[in-house]
Amino acid sequence: MAEETAPKVTMEKIVSLCRRRGFVFPSSEIYGGLSSCWDYGPLGVEMKRNLKDAWWKDMVQTRDDMVGLDTSILMHPQVWVASGHLKSFSDPMVECKSCQRRYKADDLTKPECPTCGGEISEPRQFNMMFKTFMGPVEDASATVYLRPETAQGMFVNFPNVLGSTRKRLPFGIAQVGKSFRNEITTGNFIFRDREFEQMEIEYFVKPGTQDKWFEYWINERILWYQKLGMRKEHLKFRQHEKKELAHYALGCFDINFLFPMGWAELEGIASRGDYDLTQHANASGRNLQYVDEETKEHYLPYVVEPSAGVDRGVLAFLCDAYDEDIADGETRVILRLHPRLAPVKVAVLPLSKKEPLANLARSIYNDLRVSWVAQYDETQSIGRRYRRQDEIGTPFCVTVDFQSLEDQQVTVRERDSMQQIRIPIGEVKGTLAAKLAL
Ligand code: GAP
Repeated sequence: MAEETAPKVTMEKIVSLCRRRGFVFPSSEIYGGLSSCWDYGPLGVEMKRNLKDAWWKDMVQTRDDMVGLDTSILMHPQVWVASGHLKSFSDPMVECKSCQRRYKADDLTKPECPTCGGEISEPRQFNMMFKTFMGPVEDASATVYLRPETAQGMFVNFPNVLGSTRKRLPFGIAQVGKSFRNEITTGNFIFRDREFEQMEIEYFVKPGTQDKWFEYWINERILWYQKLGMRKEHLKFRQHEKKELAHYALGCFDINFLFPMGWAELEGIASRGDYDLTQHANASGRNLQYVDEETKEHYLPYVVEPSAGVDRGVLAFLCDAYDEDIADGETRVILRLHPRLAPVKVAVLPLSKKEPLANLARSIYNDLRVSWVAQYDETQSIGRRYRRQDEIGTPFCVTVDFQSLEDQQVTVRERDSMQQIRIPIGEVKGTLAAKLAL
């Protein structure tokens, strides 16, 4: 794997860009914000959607061995008993006896409160699932949980998918959706949140073939990030030691990304064996076995699970794409985002706000926005407008000038190289389609 390299951008720069340009805002900001919850702004929502769409297209729609699901966030409470989350999805936590602040036991180096120096309690287990109540009565029998992973929705639907699709092993179920964890240690912007989104695959395989598929998915997933432009030297694997493994995992590899605060997990790929299906079969009393039509064997499939975080993906792609260079004697901030991820694909920039130029530019804009997210920007100098588009990662700008009225041609400028080509208006759509279809 690649050598350790220093991250190019600081978290402060990313946070400031995200806020200034409308990628990400603190949740409920006018009330002082809500810790570790974030709102995606007009550009952030486009980029996040692009990331999820790219994953869905590449992992589900263009594969014969994959189907999708969208399961509910609230599930039967027995799901979390069977999955082991109620008992084991916890962290040891300590509390300061003076100021009552709570810390992850593992985070403390000394047996005293890092804030006030007070005496620290004995560690106790703190379950990270958010609890709420179903219906009007708030008692134990009405307790339900916000899911801490999307995975269980796919395990409990295994017989429904088998019955309705007649899929044969190996095949996967995929889902994108919100998960919730009452994390004790949060921070680093959208890296670790209490409400976040996951893109997860449960890939069901014949027992005995799991190692081959584990290796396959580890490679497949790292290549996917690279295909979307993430630099190789910003990615590396980390194998979990036995003592770190989640309660369900036989083995786990993380794909780590070089975030501004250092190397950290972007995605986990776990070999879950038949743990979940066994647990749900026992707890529900339902037969979840797969019948191999060739050998007539009945068995519970093993599972390999590539599990990616959407918010971490957005943060990683933003950090990876961030660049600064000098253009026309000024510092230019550029997001070198892959066109599939860029929130805006093309901006139309008329050199004048006046008619008849504006009318021509508007008609080009109206034509392009049918196919792509486009912006129309007519304010300030053309140089400033290019900078604004570079900073949000727009791959192409179409400049409409006075000459365009005469020769029906426009200038197409490319973000990374800043190269400009002059083409007939009638060819703009085709040219962009070819350049954006990566
Ligand atoms: N179903 C397996 C599972 O949930 P995980 O390693 O706990 O495994 C998978 O989570 C991915 O979800 C992580 O690699 C990360 O990208 C994302 N993730 C987990 N906890 C998160 C949090 N608190 N905030 C943001 N993303 C999180």
